Amino acid sequence: MGFRVIQGGRAPEGPSGLLVEGAAEVVTMAGGPRSGTALNDPAAIVAPGGEPRDPAAPAVACWDGRVLAVGPRDELLPALEGSGYPLERFARLDAAGGTVTPGLVDPHTHLLFGGSREAELVLRQRGAGYLEILAAGGGILSTVEATRGASKEALLEHGRRWLGEMLSHGTTTVEAKSGYGLDLPTELRLLEVAHQLGEEGPIDVLPTWLGAHAVPPEFRTRPDGTEAYVRYLLEEQLPGVAAQGRARFADVFCEGGVFTPDQSRRILSEAARLGLQPRLHADELAPSGGAELAVELGALSADHLAAPSAEGSEALAHAASDGHPVVAVLLPATTWFLMHDHYAPARTLVDRGVPIALATDFNPGTSPTASLPLVMTVACLTLKLSPSEALAACTVNSAAALGLAEEVGSLEAGRSADLVIWGVPNHRQIPYWPGAALVRTVVKRGRVVFERPPA
Ligand code: NIG
Ligand code: FE
Repeated sequence: MGFRVIQGGRAPEGPSGLLVEGAAEVVTMAGGPRSGTALNDPAAIVAPGGEPRDPAAPAVACWDGRVLAVGPRDELLPALEGSGYPLERFARLDAAGGTVTPGLVDPHTHLLFGGSREAELVLRQRGAGYLEILAAGGGILSTVEATRGASKEALLEHGRRWLGEMLSHGTTTVEAKSGYGLDLPTELRLLEVAHQLGEEGPIDVLPTWLGAHAVPPEFRTRPDGTEAYVRYLLEEQLPGVAAQGRARFADVFCEGGVFTPDQSRRILSEAARLGLQPRLHADELAPSGGAELAVELGALSADHLAAPSAEGSEALAHAASDGHPVVAVLLPATTWFLMHDHYAPARTLVDRGVPIALATDFNPGTSPTASLPLVMTVACLTLKLSPSEALAACTVNSAAALGLAEEVGSLEAGRSADLVIWGVPNHRQIPYWPGAALVRTVVKRGRVVFERPPA
């Protein structure tokens, strides 16, 4: 095995490296985003006989916040020394027979909001529909009211609390949407808070503008309410958001009764012109042309897809085979929590070569979970993904859904040294123990940022 040394020469005083050893398995996800049968290949290196103390057990070497090399320890250490890396400069981290994976990447969350909506769970148990609750002024609109009333400090506090929860479940990079302000001051506040939380770290936070999440109450009373709100988005809110410069992506809730494909196209085209990359809530509840639109716009991702049309699936398959893939970000915890029985056609999408990713969709209405391992379990049980596929969908493919596959989501030379040590001997056990606290240690950019205290 050869190791590419990406940064040679002697380092200044003090340890600058990290060596993770003693793992029964290291999942690298090397080789780029996966589709088709390759989705099931995690590019794992396993300790001979499952014995983490075996000289050929896998180790991960990091230097200056980046992955240097991954490989059998008895080959890796001489290669490091031979390339001029003094071994005494590497802090040692013992995986103690656990599994090492890339840090998880959550590419679809509504991280920031005020209040909570536990009452809706009971309403839905009694038969109320999601869009019915929204039309009656509840749902997203009740969160909008609570969020408009939340101060920047309160939102920061909330964000820190739930990012901490994500970190404790292995997430090291997260996308965070606005969309519970729907007026310019609150949308700017949400985007600013998302940005600031990313600066604080350790999780990287990528802000998305979702001004087109719902039509706010002040426009609903007008006869042409939705269209008037779209014009306001195009003429005032979006220019304000672009001038602020915090949002990296733009998203729209394209769904019957919310925003039409035509309105979504206008919003996302203008956002793209202003430098915000498009992504889309597409075909969550019924086919509405969302998947087709995501392909037409060259969006980074089409999200939800519980109910794409045959044409929509076809369009995603064509985009993938043409070399311009739109990542299908599937959110099975949402379908589950809404108690719907119609899940995204994950197996069909995989068979058609569409790259799929998984996300929590963390939000107070339809998916109040911050745990990607739980989403992996739900994906295995309902979408019939294998555990290896589910892990690829939460690492290298979810990085691709954010345009970050060259930076995070895999353990290979040059990538950010973001990794998780799990207290299980192989990655297939991650979705197998739902609800268990399996994350032992999280490393972000080569630094330990989370350690579970011993039981
Ligand atoms: O992705 N579907 C639209 N947006 C969120 C839910 C937001 C809410 O209900 O507060 C979603 O599921
Ligand atoms: Fe969402």
